[in-house]
Amino acid sequence: MYVIDVFSGCGGFTQGAKQAGATVILAVDSWKEALDVHALNHPETEHWHEVVGGDPSLFAGRLRAVADLKVPSGEHLHVHFSPPCQQLSGVNHSRNELKGLALVEWSFQVAELLCPDSFTVEQVRNPFLLRTYAHLPHRIYKMCEHGIPQTRVRVLFGDAPALPFAPAEPILSFLNDVNILPGTCITNHNMKRVLGKKSNPIAYATRDLSQTSFTVTRAQPQLYRNMKATILPIEVVARLQTFDANYFAGLKMCVARRLIGNAVPPSFAELVVRELKKSLQHDLVFNVCPQEAGGRGQCGTHDG
Ligand SMILES: C[S@@+](CC[C@H](N)C(=O)[O-])C[C@H]1O[C@@H](n2cnc3c(N)ncnc32)[C@H](O)[C@@H]1O
Repeated sequence: MYVIDVFSGCGGFTQGAKQAGATVILAVDSWKEALDVHALNHPETEHWHEVVGGDPSLFAGRLRAVADLKVPSGEHLHVHFSPPCQQLSGVNHSRNELKGLALVEWSFQVAELLCPDSFTVEQVRNPFLLRTYAHLPHRIYKMCEHGIPQTRVRVLFGDAPALPFAPAEPILSFLNDVNILPGTCITNHNMKRVLGKKSNPIAYATRDLSQTSFTVTRAQPQLYRNMKATILPIEVVARLQTFDANYFAGLKMCVARRLIGNAVPPSFAELVVRELKKSLQHDLVFNVCPQEAGGRGQCGTHDG
């Protein structure tokens, strides 16, 4: 399988696709620092540093030219899109959902025009997004049900395969190298922000260390200890996001944390690509080219 990774960031999806045996021919992102890390870890991939979102037919044409050059005839082309989620994320209280939808819609348009053998568009599970695209095939993934050690939930539109169930490890097993005092908890959001009101002392959402971690973001999860929330070491955060910490070697902590928080967990991407490859062997790819079938959404919705 050959993969194009649009909104590639530092390469969470790319890394996972490669772990599943795919060849990633192209990565596109507007964030120079992220793309540099991508290039360092995946030097064989072509990199386009640009802001996308313009004429979808022009962009689809450029992708087609790369695919024609790099994908041997008869081989499978998969295109993955991870458009930014800030404007659709529930933790952003000033989000503009219509704005958030723009690059999702653009991704669908590019996929429709390019008509690859399969495609996926990844997003947060936003109710407005799900209502808007309820007619398109999609699947919602609770990542901790597939071995990813955090509560992250995401939706994949397009050729979203069913994934095998695998329980995720608790936070405790990632903290072996950290000096933990008994009774400490991982915290996620400051409840003052979530509830929209002040509390004294500050209230945090907490989980016991024997549970799966909260979703990994730029600044979360943290360790609650001695009445203080402390940031976790980068090695632990990288592993919770299923990256090898060496992937971010030499980067400033704050940059690495931003890259990690933004990424698709590689192990999740690996499962997606692996299952997609399996479904190909059984002719189960859901996506039907509009020219052939008069529209998308031939297999309906699989939400679960
Ligand atoms: C959810 S992150 C992608 C994560 C990535 N797929 C991974 O697995 O690591 C969204 C990415 O979209 C990029 N982005 C946002 N707006 C963009 C635009 N208009 N053009 C290109 N890239 C953009 C951001 O720089 C960010 O890296």
